[in-house]
Amino acid sequence: MTVDDRFASLEPIGEEPEGIRSEIITGPVSDWATDFSHLEPEWAADPYPIQDDLRQRCPIAHTDRFGGAWLPTRYEDVAAIAYDTERFSSRSINMGNFRPPRDIAPIGGSPPISSDPPFHQHARKLLLGAFTKTSIARQEPATRAFCHELIDKLEGQDVVDAAAEYAQHIPMRVIADMLGFPPEDGPQFAEFVEDLLEGINLPPEDRITRMERLFSYLLTQVQDHLDNPRDDITSYLLGAEIFGTKLTADHVTGAMALLLIAGIDTTWSAIGSSLWHLADHPADRRRLLDEPALLPVAIEEFLRAYAPVTMARLVKEDMNWHGADMKADDWILLSFPAANRDPAQFDRAGEVIIDRQVNRHAAFGLGIHRCLGSHLARMELRVALEVWLERIGEFTLADPEAVRWSTGQIRGPRALPLKIS
Ligand code: HEM
Repeated sequence: MTVDDRFASLEPIGEEPEGIRSEIITGPVSDWATDFSHLEPEWAADPYPIQDDLRQRCPIAHTDRFGGAWLPTRYEDVAAIAYDTERFSSRSINMGNFRPPRDIAPIGGSPPISSDPPFHQHARKLLLGAFTKTSIARQEPATRAFCHELIDKLEGQDVVDAAAEYAQHIPMRVIADMLGFPPEDGPQFAEFVEDLLEGINLPPEDRITRMERLFSYLLTQVQDHLDNPRDDITSYLLGAEIFGTKLTADHVTGAMALLLIAGIDTTWSAIGSSLWHLADHPADRRRLLDEPALLPVAIEEFLRAYAPVTMARLVKEDMNWHGADMKADDWILLSFPAANRDPAQFDRAGEVIIDRQVNRHAAFGLGIHRCLGSHLARMELRVALEVWLERIGEFTLADPEAVRWSTGQIRGPRALPLKIS
């Protein structure tokens, strides 16, 4: 067994960090302008009318929940905050009942997404090579073959759950290959994702137990890669250096966790929302069947209109920002989905126009943290839809009432029964 001192004393999960806690208050929202919560079922089912109303009535909404949080809904405000790393920190990007301690910045628990400048650029640069267009093109044949395998398994069924039986598996398999994890571990990844992203309403002790599961899995993979180094991102991270020194164990496992989590829920959601739209809009479905070359343009529109990812920031110091009296450690719920539907930025912002020509959407974020996996996400989305349209062709919602959307910061269908014959 190879020994690497960095990992020798690393427990699956250390002491719970001293951070800032607040009670999370769930329950019906009295007024979205003064009491918003992205955890309520109404928001999960259809957040767009709420965001449209806020943009008109109160463009930077507030809530006392989560210990205090703000929700900007105009594109210009979302962009200004995303670009302003001086005043808004990324030390936690998942809004909940726990804020990590301030001294965790500028590295954070999962670099580079949790890192602020100046460290951020170094952590990001390390990962760029694995996610270039050329590197991602190498994953395309295996992704396509896997999509066909998934469709083969649907043989004989009239109704299939396109979220659980198709969309979910694609990003899990691709990222497992890239990180060098066993492909059959996919189902465990779904639990990790749920633990981290959808479990934010749990008491901190329960969240720590859930994190433990993920980190002990990652440590097993680290050990396997130390014993059997190979050509994948995990072995690369184990050998990588910043400022002439190997990465700390926390940096390696934090980045592995980020890559595992960031790519799954997000892409699963984007594939699911696109299929949901096409099942519900026969004219768009038929147009894509007749004009497959339009698909990349349509995908950008699905990403704009159903942007799956909302991020969070923490206010660094007390300040008045565009009229909002922000306090240090207040959350900002940074809604790229709301920005993408701002009529001041997009013509007919509330409509889905699958041949929209000018489409500078913010689904992949804005500024220094802009999605590092965007080439991968676009490839997976295109291949998943190409194979589905080629093999299934006609499909409709089997039961619109049975479609279930995720709650929290990543939005997409988690149950999507489609009639395929
Ligand atoms: C449709 C799918 C996806 C969407 C909509 C999406 C969206 C985003 C957004 C909005 C951000 C900005 C975060 C912020 O401002 O705090 C981000 C960052 C990031 N994404 Fe994605 N993402 C997707 C898929 C992926 C995939 C497949 C990967 C790779 C495994 C990935 C890896 C990352 C990483 C590493 C960052 C952090 C970059 C940094 O902080 O410099 N994402 N993503």
